[in-house]
Amino acid sequence: MSTAHRRILVTSALPYANGPIHIGHLVEYLQTDIWVRFQKLRGHECHYVCADDAHGTPIMLRAEQEGIAPEELIRRIGGEHQADFAAFGVAFDNYHSTHSPENRAIATLIYERLRDAGHITRRSIHQAFDPVKQMFLPDRFIKGTCPRCGAGDQYGDNCEACGATYAPTDLVDPRSVLTGVAPEQRESEHLFFRLGNFESMLKEWLASSDLQPGVVNKLQEWFEAGLQDWDISRDAPYFGFEIPDAPGKYFYVWLDAPIGYFASFRHLCDRTGIDFDSFCAADSTTEMYHFIGKDITYFHTLFWPAMLKGAGFRIPSNVFVHGFLTVDGQKMSKSRGTFITARTYLDHLHPEYLRYYFAAKLGAGIDDIDLNLEDFQHRVNADLVGKVVNIASRCAGFVTRNFAGALAARGDDPALVSALQAAGAGIAQAYEAREFGRAMREIMALADRVNQYIDHRKPWVLAKQEDAASELHAVCSTGIELFRLLMIYLKPVLPFMAREAEEFLDCGELRWNDHQTLLGAHVVKPFKPLLNRIDPAKVTAMIEDSRSAPPAPATKTSSAPTAASSAAKPASDVADTPAQISIEEFGKIDLRVARIAAANAVEGADKLVQLTLDLGTETRQVFAGIKAAYAPEALVGKHVVMVANLAPRKMRFGVSEGMVLAASGDGPGIFLISPEAGAEAGMRVK
Ligand code: 2FM
Ligand code: ZN
Repeated sequence: MSTAHRRILVTSALPYANGPIHIGHLVEYLQTDIWVRFQKLRGHECHYVCADDAHGTPIMLRAEQEGIAPEELIRRIGGEHQADFAAFGVAFDNYHSTHSPENRAIATLIYERLRDAGHITRRSIHQAFDPVKQMFLPDRFIKGTCPRCGAGDQYGDNCEACGATYAPTDLVDPRSVLTGVAPEQRESEHLFFRLGNFESMLKEWLASSDLQPGVVNKLQEWFEAGLQDWDISRDAPYFGFEIPDAPGKYFYVWLDAPIGYFASFRHLCDRTGIDFDSFCAADSTTEMYHFIGKDITYFHTLFWPAMLKGAGFRIPSNVFVHGFLTVDGQKMSKSRGTFITARTYLDHLHPEYLRYYFAAKLGAGIDDIDLNLEDFQHRVNADLVGKVVNIASRCAGFVTRNFAGALAARGDDPALVSALQAAGAGIAQAYEAREFGRAMREIMALADRVNQYIDHRKPWVLAKQEDAASELHAVCSTGIELFRLLMIYLKPVLPFMAREAEEFLDCGELRWNDHQTLLGAHVVKPFKPLLNRIDPAKVTAMIEDSRSAPPAPATKTSSAPTAASSAAKPASDVADTPAQISIEEFGKIDLRVARIAAANAVEGADKLVQLTLDLGTETRQVFAGIKAAYAPEALVGKHVVMVANLAPRKMRFGVSEGMVLAASGDGPGIFLISPEAGAEAGMRVK
C-alpha cells in the first residue's frame, strides 16, 4: 500500500438536533472515528468534521411544544450530542451546526450559483395545508387510512401495515397530526433543483469512482426510473434559512444539511488556518469521504454531488454506506428495552466494549449489523479481557517485582516477534478497506499465538526456579513487547485503553509505524488492570432502563427513499450536566405534598420501598430507592413532596406512578424532602 502523504476530509452524517444519540447512530460515528484514527495514526492529514442538523419542521414544532425558541433547543441538544460523542471517544476535529453563519453563507452561495447557471426552476404545486395551524404539512404530519389495505392511523407517505407507498392525497380520511382537522389542498410556488441536468455527470462519477456494489445497483435503478426535479423550498413557518430571492420561502432542511459538512470544515479552517479551497475547490487534489447510513444514499450520491458540481465545487471521492443496527436480530424497540441511547449505555457500560464489538462486526458492505447481547458479552470478555489484557497482566507483575520494571535488552522467540510485526501490513490494509471485522480477527489470532507462547514458557514456573531469572526476564519482556504491538494495532478501536497502555509502557504516543521497532532495554511503570469483564447484571440494568425511559419524539425529519426509524428517549434525562430549563418548562412539573399512607419493602429489590401516597383526592403507588436510609415502617404518616405528573413507569415490581423528592450527595445519605408541619396532602408546591 502506498504510504505517500494523503490529505483527507471525512464526515459522518449530521444528527438531527431534536433527539438523543442512540446505539443505532453510533455504528456510523464509531465506524468513521476508527477509520479516521487509523489515517491519523499512519501520519496522514485527516480532518473529521460533523455538526448538528438543526433545521426543519419537527425541530420547529418541538421547540414550540417546549415553549422555547428553536435556537435554544438546538443549543441544548447540540451540547448533549457532543457530550455523548466525547464519552464514546468519537474525536471530531470540529463539531458545528447547520444553523450557523458559515452554513448560511455557503448555502446561499451554492444556491445562487445553481440559479445563475440555470439549474433552478419555479412552479406552483398543491400541498396539504392545516387551516387551523396555518401551515403546510410535511407528509409525516398527515395520518389516515391506507388506501390499499385499509389499516388506520398510517402516515401520509407509506403504510407500516402493508408497505404501500403513496401520496398523502391518496389517504382515506386524512387528518393533520397537529390539530386533527382534515387538511386542505392549497397552492404555493416552490423552487426546484433540476437534477436531470446532471445525469451524464453523475453517470461519469459512478463509472470513475469506487462506489460499493450495493450503491452502484441503487444508482442504476434510479437512473432507469429517471432523475426528477427536487423541491428545495418550504413555506413559512419554517425553521431554516430564508431563500435570498424568495421572501417567505426557506431552504428545505435537506438542501443545507450536506452543505453543513462544508460549513463545519470552513469553521475549522477559520480557527486553524487550514486552506479550505485546497479541500473543497473544483480542482482539489485531496480526498473527501462521507460516511452515511443506507437510508440517505439518494441525497448523498445524487443531489449532493450534482449540487457541488453545478456550483463549481469538488465532488466526493467516495460515499461509504453502512447498514442499520438490529439488536438480537430485531429492529431496536422501546418495549423490548433495545432502544438504547448513548447516555443509557454509558450509565452502565464502558464505551470501549461497544467500540470493539462494532469493529468486530463491521465490514465494507451495506448489510445490517446485529448487536447480539449474549455474543457481545462473550466476545468482549473473551477477546479483550481474556486475550489482550491477559497478556500484559500475566507478564507485568514479574517484570515489576523481579526486575524493577526493566525489560530485558534482548527478548526471546524472535520468530514470533517478527511474525507480529509482519502482520501490520495486512491489518493496515483491512482498516483502510473498512474491513474492521477482518482486522479484529487477525489481531485476535495474533493474541492467541502470544498466549500460547506464554502458556508454553510458563513464567510462573520459571519464577520459582532459582537459576531461571534471565529466562523469566526474557519471556516476560517478550510478552510485553508483543502486547505493545497488539495495542498499536488496536489503537484506532480502543483509544482509551491505548492511552493507559502508553502510560504503563511509558513509551509516549504510539504511532502506526512504531510496530516496526521494539522497546528493548526500557523501564515500564507498574501495571494497572486495563479493562474488566462485562458484568451481565449491568447489561440487564441497561435494558431495564431503556424500557422504562419515557416515550420518545420522532427524530426523522425527512421521508428518505428507504425508511429508517429513530424514535428516542427525550434528551432531558441526560445526567451530569442538567440543561437549563425555562420557567414554562418548570411550570409543567406538578409538585404536590403527599402523605405516606403505607410503605413496604419490595422483595428482590434491596434499595426500593413501595410507597402508597395519599394526595388528598387520590392515592398513588411509587417505588422509591430510599431503603438504605429509611426503614419502611418509619415512613408511614410522613409528608413528602412528589412529582405528580411524571409519566407512569413500568418497573419489574409494578408500575410507579410518580416520584418523591430526596436530596443526596456523593456520600451514602438520602434525605427525603418534607414540607413544614401544617402542610396537607394534595397541596401544590411552587
Ligand atoms: O438522516 C438524518 O439523520 C439526517 N440528519 C442526516 C443528514 S446528513 C447530511 F446530509 F447532512
Ligand atoms: Zn396498507
